[in-house]
Parts: sequence; C-alpha cells; structure tokens
Amino acid sequence: MATEVGGHKLGKMLVEGKTKQVFDLPSMPGHCMMVSKDVITAMNGVKCNELAGKGAISNKTNAKVFETLNAVGMKTAFFKLASDGAFIAKKCEMIPIEWVTRRLATGSFLKRNVGVPEGYRFSPPKHEMFFKDDANDDPQWSEEQIISANWKFNGRHIGPAEVEILQTTSIMVFEILEKAWATRNCALIDMKIEFGVDESGEILLADIIDSDSWRLWPAGDKRLMVDKQVYRNLKNVTSSDLDTVKRNFEWVAEQLDHLTPANDHLVAILMGSPSDMDYCKKIQGHCQSLGLNAEVRVTSAHKGTKETMSMIKYYESLPLKVVFIAVAGRSNGLGPVISGNSALPVINCPPVKAENVDMDIWSSLNVPSGLGCSTVIYPESAALNAAQMIGLSNYVVWSKLKMKQLNNYVSLRMADKQAHPEQ
Ligand SMILES: Nc1ncnc2c1ncn2[C@@H]1O[C@H](COP(=O)(O)OP(=O)(O)OP(=O)(O)O)[C@@H](O)[C@H]1O
Ligand SMILES: [Mg+2]
Repeated sequence: MATEVGGHKLGKMLVEGKTKQVFDLPSMPGHCMMVSKDVITAMNGVKCNELAGKGAISNKTNAKVFETLNAVGMKTAFFKLASDGAFIAKKCEMIPIEWVTRRLATGSFLKRNVGVPEGYRFSPPKHEMFFKDDANDDPQWSEEQIISANWKFNGRHIGPAEVEILQTTSIMVFEILEKAWATRNCALIDMKIEFGVDESGEILLADIIDSDSWRLWPAGDKRLMVDKQVYRNLKNVTSSDLDTVKRNFEWVAEQLDHLTPANDHLVAILMGSPSDMDYCKKIQGHCQSLGLNAEVRVTSAHKGTKETMSMIKYYESLPLKVVFIAVAGRSNGLGPVISGNSALPVINCPPVKAENVDMDIWSSLNVPSGLGCSTVIYPESAALNAAQMIGLSNYVVWSKLKMKQLNNYVSLRMADKQAHPEQ
C-alpha cells in the first residue's frame, strides 16, 4: 500500500469505501488524502468491476467540478489535487445523507411517483434526501427524520435550520453545475451530493462529484447519456462495454477543461470628473468581487464631447460584452449621451449627495425619448446590475450572484437560530 502520495506522507487509513480510501495526513492537521480506486460499482456494490484508469478519471472530474464550485464561493472540503489519483480534502465527519436534486423526472423517481411521465420538468428543481444505509438500500428520508436523528458531527448540531440550509445549498450546487454544463450543450438531469462537518464545525460540501454523481445528457437527449447510468443499464458487462463507459467518463472529464468562460466581458466605468475617482474605485471594487473585469476612465460629455464619442467607439469595437457605468455629479450628461449613441447597456450611478439629490437625480432619470439607460444610486447596486447583465451569458458571474444571495440567506437563518435556538 502506498505510504506517500504527491510528496505527502500518508497517516493511517481512516476509512475505505467502495470507490475511495481516505488517509490521515499528519503533516496537514484537519486534512485527509482521498485516493480513488480503479473500481466501478452500482446497486450499492452488488455490481462491481475493476476498471483500469477509472480512479484517475474520477479524480480529474471531481477536481474540475470542485475547483469550479470553490471559484464561485461555495464552501467545500476540496483543497487541491495531490496526484493523478488523489486529492487533499478537509477532514470531515460526514452527514450520512445523499442530497438529491432533479431537473427532470427519470429513474427511481418514476418508480416512487407512479403516473409522473419521464421528462417531467421540475421548476424549482425537486429535492429529495436518502439515508445512507446500504443494508436497507438507502431509504428516502423526510426533513423530520433527519431533524429527529438529532445528529451532531464535530460538535455541530444538525437541526431544522441546517437541514433547510443544506437543501437550499444542494439546489444551488445543482443550478450552478447545470448552468456550467449548459455551456457544453449538456443537460444536467439530476445529481446527488454529500455534506460533511470539518473540525472547526463548519458544514462543507464534501465527498466527491464525478460521473457517478449525476445524469448528464448531451444535447438534452437521453439516448446520448454519458454518465454511470450506461453501466447500471448493462446486463452482462463485457470488456468492450467497460471501454465505452470509460470513454464516456473521459469525454466528461475533458469537457470540464473547457468550462471556464473566456474573458468575454468588460465593465467600463466612466466618470465626468476625476473628483469622482474614489467613488468609481468603489464601483470597480464591487465589480471585481463579483468576478467582473472593470476599468475606470475619465471623460466629460459636456466638456470633452469628442473624446466621449471616440471612447464609445473604442468600447464598441472590442470583441467583448461591454457594460457602461456612467458616473457624473450635478447634471449627468454622460450616461444619456452614451446611451443615445451606443447599443451597449448604460447604468447611471450619479454620486448624489443628500443636499442636492432632488436637483441632480432628474438629469439621470428624465432622459430624452429613445434612450434606455437605467439609474441606481449606490456603487454596489451599479456593480450588481452590471453583473446581472453579464451573468446572462457567463455562468461564473451568474453563480457568484447566486452565491451572494445564498450567503445572505444562510447568515439570516443562522442569526435566527442564535436568537431562537430551537431552530
Ligand atoms: N472530506 C472527507 N473527510 C472524511 N471522509 C470523507 C470525506 N469525503 C468523503 N468521505 C468518506 O469517504 C468514505 C469512502 O468513500 P466511498 O465513496 O468509497 O464510500 P462508499 O463505499 O461509496 O460508501 P458510501 O456509501 O458511504 O459513500 C465514505 O465513507 C465517505 O463518507
Ligand atoms: Mg460514496
């Protein structure tokens, strides 16, 4: 048995499952090494085949998925790849529930919900939970059953608030990966994830997400499925069948290399006067925290009309999705002039002050006919509005917006739990 992986000395094996071995990592307290095995299983291990190279493909797929989720701000146990077949994770006590999210009805859902046709579309996605209990074929559990189990992992109690947060987070993970896969023209049909609690008591998305975790239909066509269902459906497993399964998994891992959206956008923050630089830097900071490329420029539509016009032409010439944010105090000529001379979106964000807001705001709001610029008065709102526009075609930005909303919801829910502990 290996004693070292990727230059990290392995401690004792903490647990061995059907597809992974988990080792302690003495040099990195609170972390463990997750080693994938060259095994493919189905029906809780009843069906099981050796498949050379499967561990490495699974490890690569999982790393790409978790790097994507980490990049948009999801809290996960994934730390980093350690070798072809292993990665380092935060060491967790695992919550023994499979959290399942579905966009389309198929598979076991149809058996448990007789009468629902295959392909029924859930909106919002359907969420279900299954207790991890191989001996009893992982029975479906209700929220009440999980709450009543009264679990504590690494000191963290799993109560009503946690269950609600985990359900909401599961759906968010699904929606983020669904959007990411859509960029490769693949429909994410359903998926299962698991959560654990790390040594500090924080709940993290854990275990792995690979081709065993989801149904994935290229072009939304079930006949083109490339997930583990292909293996589950096999009656007699031949070596050529296993080759097909492996090729599918390789194809999936390869697709994930192309997920990151290109540098496809730019937020141009234009100010009428350099005295608004600090205000514009604030907008730029908010943009960057949402994953947006943003730059600041100075141009006055009143006093430097020619420059403003050539700046508009410059931004229109870029092979990027450009959103303008116009910052001008007193009379805002800038935003409306850009809006009247460009098809790109313009957000006015005048740096109004309480004493003159009544006078100044109207130059942004009461624009001539034919103009479609919008107006907000907070730097954060301008950045959020730009992110919403860019997020329409950029799943990373879209996901960052959704994660911001999820984090707000989680803090409120936990604040309520603190105020009212039965929650
Ligand atoms: N971050 C983590 N820290 C500690 N243990 C983990 C972590 N992620 C996953 N595990 C555990 O690693 C073990 C091995 O995973 P594997 O998927 O091979 O198990 P399995 O045979 O499928 O059993 P299970 O049905 O519990 O998933 C599982 O018990 C899983 O809960
Ligand atoms: Mg498992």
